Amino acid sequence: MVVTERFRLHTGYSLLSAVLGSLLLKAEAYGVPIRLQSAVDNRLCLVCHAKSTLTKRLPTGKVVSLYVNEADYQRSVHAERLCTDCHVDIVELPHEKEIELVNCSRCHYVGTVSPPDLKKYAEYRESIHKVALDRGNHRAPACQDCHGYHNILPPTDPDSQINRRNIPQTCGKCHLAIYSDYQEGIHGRLLRAGNSDVPVCTDCHGEHNIQSPQDPNSRVYATQVPQTCASCHAAEKIMRKYGIKVDKYETYRESYHGVVNQYGGITVANCASCHQAHRILPASDPASSVNKHNLPRTCGQCHPGANANFARGKMHVRVTKEEARLLYYVRLGFRMLTIGVMAALIGHIFLDLFSRWRERRKGRRRQG
Ligand code: HEC
Ligand code: HEC
Ligand code: HEC
Ligand code: HEC
Ligand code: HEC
Ligand code: HEC
Ligand code: HEC
Ligand code: HEC
Ligand code: HEC
Repeated sequence: MVVTERFRLHTGYSLLSAVLGSLLLKAEAYGVPIRLQSAVDNRLCLVCHAKSTLTKRLPTGKVVSLYVNEADYQRSVHAERLCTDCHVDIVELPHEKEIELVNCSRCHYVGTVSPPDLKKYAEYRESIHKVALDRGNHRAPACQDCHGYHNILPPTDPDSQINRRNIPQTCGKCHLAIYSDYQEGIHGRLLRAGNSDVPVCTDCHGEHNIQSPQDPNSRVYATQVPQTCASCHAAEKIMRKYGIKVDKYETYRESYHGVVNQYGGITVANCASCHQAHRILPASDPASSVNKHNLPRTCGQCHPGANANFARGKMHVRVTKEEARLLYYVRLGFRMLTIGVMAALIGHIFLDLFSRWRERRKGRRRQG
């Protein structure tokens, strides 16, 4: 690397930088590293790193940028932090080539005074992502993979990687196929159109506490899915705007699948088994898994040989006399039967108690 090229200063740089830069140049030329004192002015680092042309070639041959965008940094939540607050292993200049990954939890831990103390930090430790990372899966995200690093903004900022609008893209970097399904689905489409009522990844999965759908604590575990969808689809305030009936949850709970699901059955259909989890489309869309032409296939996943006839009935039926006559009477029958059996049982117990009481009274009279 041509050293002089590296130190051609940014026009906006102060005299201080110029002096520091030339000092550094001398130090490097003589091979004397400068030990850094506790507080290093960020400008010292930016002498080199504010240059957009500063790059490094990895052993694989790939060229990566070492440029730090100062404007982004100044705008970020960490604008007041020193570079070396995060890059703690940089203790002299020119610095080592091998630099450790930044550990955000050095400052962000439960019980800290500043930054804000959030239980989110502890949640991340238990998540599938952190567990996978600790097991050595380097494709699983650390804090910086979701939040970014020199450009971290609060979630309320539209440019933040964790702003609602941008969350699908942030998760989608790694979950590509699911991202594309989500984008095609009704929820994703409406999000792009500016709707803020539709769910993004974190509404269904959580943020720092993401678990596998096979984990019973996950919000997308088979028996939790109905509740997760219901948080919106059973909310009159949200659904009224779109003219969608809020009875979907209730009618599901009354169905065969719904009853078994409530008792912990995970092989019966939940909302996502029929509607899919990510590529959810209105029933009128011919590509929807619940469009009537596709129902034989959708039901057929679990009911082998399901044909158009099998899937013919309406799915979200309210069990009233008008909407579903047969189901209504079957249920009424079951109710009567249950009540009848209960009544007989209770009657039997009373009769039994009564006869014991009479026996005992008779016995006492005989003794007396
Ligand atoms: C003299 C110019 C110069 C100065 C001043 C400088 N750096 Fe660097 N920095 C470099 C070069 C060159 C590399 C690439 C080293 C290599 O080839 O691996 C680098 C690499 C890095 C990396 C690692 C990038 C990676 O992915 O491997 C970090 C982090 C870094 N510098 C931070 C800092 C910080 C913080 C400061 C201030 C305390 C600083 N640098 C000051 C020139 C400089
Ligand atoms: C909030 C913590 C934090 C602060 C403050 C910070 N960095 Fe970084 N920096 C990171 C993280 C995280 C990475 C990505 C690599 C990693 O995960 O360690 C990184 C990467 C880098 C890289 C490698 C190039 C790249 O973009 O991947 C350079 C160079 C660098 N930082 C320089 C600086 C300089 C100069 C400053 C001060 C102006 C600074 N950093 C301040 C967290 C920080
Ligand atoms: C040197 C300590 C330190 C390190 C290391 C650090 N942070 Fe911070 N961070 C802070 C402080 C202090 C604040 C509060 C800033 C403020 O409110 O002015 C903060 C704020 C934040 C916020 C905004 C919080 C809020 O409620 O507004 C996020 C998000 C954040 N940091 C993420 C990260 C990530 C991701 C990393 C690692 C790349 C990291 N931090 C590394 C000290 C640190
Ligand atoms: C899988 C992605 C992901 C990972 C990994 C992750 N976060 Fe977050 N983080 C988010 C999302 C999404 C939000 C929520 C934004 C919101 O409230 O809408 C968030 C919120 C936060 C906030 C609160 C911001 C605010 O102002 O409300 C802080 C602080 C934070 N994260 C720090 C961290 C730290 C530290 C780590 C690592 C220990 C980490 N995060 C790991 C995605 C992630
Ligand atoms: C840096 C890449 C990366 C990012 C960003 C990321 N993930 Fe992941 N995620 C992974 C990897 C890798 C796994 C697999 C972990 C394992 O089991 O080994 C995973 C696992 C998962 C799982 C469990 C999958 C299963 O079958 O058990 C869910 C759910 C998940 N991620 C959701 C999310 C959500 C939601 C976000 C955004 C808030 C997100 N991820 C962001 C890489 C990422
Ligand atoms: C409306 C709720 C909902 C939204 C929004 C959502 N998911 Fe899911 N996700 C689920 C459900 C339910 C499952 C489990 C059922 C299944 O596997 O199909 C699941 C499963 C997953 C899995 C593990 C299953 C697999 O195939 O590996 C990952 C990873 C995942 N989602 C990531 C994401 C990402 C990334 C986003 C955002 C782009 C997202 N999800 C948005 C409900 C949702
Ligand atoms: C954060 C709230 C929220 C959650 C959680 C949610 N949805 Fe939605 N959903 C909406 C909104 C808002 C619409 C948009 C209405 C429209 O079509 O204009 C919608 C649309 C739909 C539609 C299309 C309806 C139509 O007639 O256009 C279906 C089907 C659907 N959602 C199913 C589900 C399923 C299944 C789940 C759970 C896996 C779920 N939703 C979770 C808010 C949510
Ligand atoms: C056994 C399959 C199945 C299950 C389980 C299921 N649905 Fe449906 N859903 C359908 C079918 C088929 C339709 C379209 C015809 C109808 O309304 O009966 C539909 C219609 C809908 C609609 C209206 C869509 C439109 O475009 O009109 C919404 C919203 C919806 N379901 C939400 C849910 C929610 C929320 C759950 C879980 C609580 C759920 N569904 C469970 C099959 C199912
Ligand atoms: C995720 C798997 C799954 C999907 C998808 C599914 N079911 Fe089921 N369903 C089951 C299981 C398991 C049972 C209980 C065992 C049995 O009787 O086969 C059941 C039971 C039923 C029953 C009552 C018992 C019976 O066999 O008569 C009906 C009716 C039914 N399903 C209809 C449907 C229809 C219609 C669809 C498509 C719209 C559908 N199911 C989709 C898993 C599923």
